[in-house]
Amino acid sequence: MARRLEGKVSIITGSTSGLGAATAAQFAQEGARVIVSGRNKERGEAVVKSILDSGGDTSFIACNLDDEASIESLIAEALDRYGRIDNLIANAAATATASGEKTAGILDMDNEILEDSIATNIRGMLWLFKYSLPALIDAARPGASETSSIVAIGTSGTRNGAPGMPIYFSTKAPVEVMVRSLATEFGDRGVRVNCVSSGLVLTESEMKTMTEEFRQYVLKLNALPFFGEPDDIANACLFLSSDEAKYVTGTTLTVNGGAAF
Ligand SMILES: NC(=O)c1ccc[n+]([C@@H]2O[C@H](COP(=O)([O-])OP(=O)(O)OC[C@H]3O[C@@H](n4cnc5c(N)ncnc54)[C@H](OP(=O)(O)O)[C@@H]3O)[C@@H](O)[C@H]2O)c1
Repeated sequence: MARRLEGKVSIITGSTSGLGAATAAQFAQEGARVIVSGRNKERGEAVVKSILDSGGDTSFIACNLDDEASIESLIAEALDRYGRIDNLIANAAATATASGEKTAGILDMDNEILEDSIATNIRGMLWLFKYSLPALIDAARPGASETSSIVAIGTSGTRNGAPGMPIYFSTKAPVEVMVRSLATEFGDRGVRVNCVSSGLVLTESEMKTMTEEFRQYVLKLNALPFFGEPDDIANACLFLSSDEAKYVTGTTLTVNGGAAF
């Protein structure tokens, strides 16, 4: 059976851990040449090694989304190595959570956490789109119904709110607006732009920072009586990046167990 991303070049930001690492592994299994990216080279190389060990094609390019020049050089280096970019998964985010290491309630807000969240989740996301879009346009052939694609990862909790998350949610909510705007502007050039809006998924960082109380709070709001796993988000990214979704753009696919969160 043909693999769904055979020969495609896919950049996945924030793939040194969590949802991004799971997405990188799935994309490689489906035949993509995967660029693993993040700030932490050691973790990035570990993800690369595990994909290579499973027979995938991948390499690591460091990038700090808080720095425009670093984003520009991620795209330049990707084009240098692979000659094209077919898919971007804009997944990296400053994930300030309800409690734990990176408390972000409004009463605890300081300038560092505010600036960090804005720099990564809003500015970094927009620079990433600016620098990757020319290559994505080059990779598409809209006249032949061949598209390239961006999938940006949003957070479904932004819709109804949750305690202790005003900064994180305020800087993640714009993702859905960015996606709708770009979809209308670049559809004629064959670039599809969609969002996967994730509910609570038990990644290592979530396990470390979420309290049991908060997990139970979310579970009570879920229609399904369990949490998502990283592969649930990776599956949605895979669908939206593949030809199966060639007529899908400007939309948000919510993967959150039917949660009101
Ligand atoms: N897990 C959930 O329950 C959940 C729920 C809703 C939405 N989401 C969204 O899903 C995405 C992934 O979350 P996750 O749970 O997998 O988190 P995670 O394990 O903490 O991963 C975050 C990734 O982003 C990268 N990153 C953070 N700041 C960066 C920066 N300034 N520049 C470049 N890379 C940066 C990190 O890599 P380095 O440290 O190597 O830089 C890491 O690979 C995020 O967009 C998050 O908002 C997650």
